[in-house]
Amino acid sequence: MEKPRVLIVMGSRSDMPTMEGCMAQLKEMNVSYEVRVLSAHRTPDAVLELSRTAKEKGIQVIIAAAGGAAHLAGVLASSTPLPVIGIPIQTSALGGMDSLLSTVQMPAGVPVATVAIGKAGAKNAAILACQMIGLADSRVQEAVESFKKAQAEKVLADSIVE
Ligand code: RP5
Repeated sequence: MEKPRVLIVMGSRSDMPTMEGCMAQLKEMNVSYEVRVLSAHRTPDAVLELSRTAKEKGIQVIIAAAGGAAHLAGVLASSTPLPVIGIPIQTSALGGMDSLLSTVQMPAGVPVATVAIGKAGAKNAAILACQMIGLADSRVQEAVESFKKAQAEKVLADSIVE
């Protein structure tokens, strides 16, 4: 079996319904991934261990999803040279604005590429990860190109409203 190229980390099993679209998109593009549920607040040592060892395990991109005071992506980004994509989970208290701001507002020097709140962001995180991997892997880049072409064709086919 191919070693995972993308590491997906989510803060809680309650994030899984949002994250299913991320995994489905990676599967569609034939990019291998590993999924872990760990929290920056509840299991900080395990999160740091994961990010410190990700590169040597062959991971190329980390995707991190968390809600509320969402520090997971930032903590992962603190201790790896790999690119980290953050997904702000939609929350019931503040609609995900809390997750968005705490994921995106990183201090200079520790970037987290933050995507949209919720399911759109989860899908886009997978596509963005494939675009990054595709820079050095033409098979993955071709998968991204095919996806974009098919998406455009679908929109054009639906463009005429009778
Ligand atoms: C975050 O807190 C998780 O990412 C989740 O979005 C949120 C709530 O977690 P649970 O209380 O449902 O475990 O860490």
